[in-house]
Amino acid sequence: MEPTRLPSLAGKDFLSLADLTKEEFAGLIASAIQLKADWKRGVRPAPMQHKTLAMFFEKQSLRTRTTFDVAMAQLGGHSVLLSQDYIGLGVRETVRDVANNLSRWVDGIMARTYEHDKLLQLAEHATVPVINGLSDYLHPCQLVADYISLTETFGDLAGLKLTYVGDGNNVANSHVNAAALAGVHLTVACPPGYEPDAGVLAAARERGGSITIAHDPRAAVRGADALYTDVWISMGMEEDTARRKRDFTGYTVTPEWFADLAPRGVFMHDLPAHYGEECTEECVYHERSIVFDQAENRLHAHKAVIFQYLAEP
Ligand code: CP
Ligand code: NVA
Repeated sequence: MEPTRLPSLAGKDFLSLADLTKEEFAGLIASAIQLKADWKRGVRPAPMQHKTLAMFFEKQSLRTRTTFDVAMAQLGGHSVLLSQDYIGLGVRETVRDVANNLSRWVDGIMARTYEHDKLLQLAEHATVPVINGLSDYLHPCQLVADYISLTETFGDLAGLKLTYVGDGNNVANSHVNAAALAGVHLTVACPPGYEPDAGVLAAARERGGSITIAHDPRAAVRGADALYTDVWISMGMEEDTARRKRDFTGYTVTPEWFADLAPRGVFMHDLPAHYGEECTEECVYHERSIVFDQAENRLHAHKAVIFQYLAEP
C-alpha cells in the first residue's frame, strides 16, 4: 500500500522545516520509513512516471546529488543535473528567468545555493515546488534523513537527548528546527560567537523547542543519546579557515568522548567530514557510529519529500 499522503504538503516548496507542523514532520518521516521498507521487499510503485526533477548545484555534493537522482529513478521519474557552470544562475540569466523557464519543463526543482535568498527567489518565481538541497542557512533534507536514522535507532524520539558539537551553521539551524518538531532535547555546544541563527532559535523556542546553548563540549555530551558533529568550515567559508581552526580548539570529537554518552549513545555526522578538525576518522568508523545509515537514509528521505511534495495524488 502507498504511504499515507500528506495533502497539506502537496505542491508546496520544501525550504525549511520551520514551515512544517509536528504532524507533517512525523508523517514525512513515517512515509520515508515505509517507502524504504516497501522498496526493500520489492514493491516498485511509480508515482513520478513521466515526471522530471531539475537538480541545480552551485556547490559540490556527493550525497544530495546522487540520492535525489536515485530517488527519482526509483519512483519512476528522472532528473536533469544543472550546475552553476552550465546555467549561470543570476549571472548568465536572472533567477526569475531561470525559474520561469524551468517551470515550463519540469515538475520540481531541487537547488543547492550559497545564499538562501537565491533559493527564496527561485521559489517565488517558479510555478513548480522548489526543494532546498542546502543553502548557507539551512539543510532540511539532511535532518529528515537524520530523524529517520534516530527513529530506527531509538524508536520514540520524544525526550531523546541530542548534542550537536561544532559550528552553528546550516546543519545546526536545521537541527534546531527538527528538535522543536520532534520533542528532542537539543544541546548545541559551540564556541561563543558560533551559535545557531538567533531567529531560528527564537522561533523554535516559541513553538516549545527544548534547545540549550553550551560552550563546554565535553560537559554537553554527558548522558546524550546522540552526539552529532559537522564541519567547522562549510562550503564558501574557506577564507575564514585559520580563524575558525583557532576558535574551535577543543572541539575535535574523538572516540574517547563516547564513554560520556548514554550507554545506548550513538555518533552522527552528515558528511563530508574534515578529519582532524570536527572529528577523527575513528569516530566515523566506530561501532557507535550510525553515519552511513544517515547517508543511506538520504535516499529514503528524498523519496518521501518527492512523494509528498511533488507527486500527484
Ligand atoms: N550531507 C550532504 O549534504 O552531503 P553532500 O554535500 O555530499 O550532498
Ligand atoms: N555545513 C556543511 C554541510 C555539508 C553537507 C556545508 O555547508 O558545507
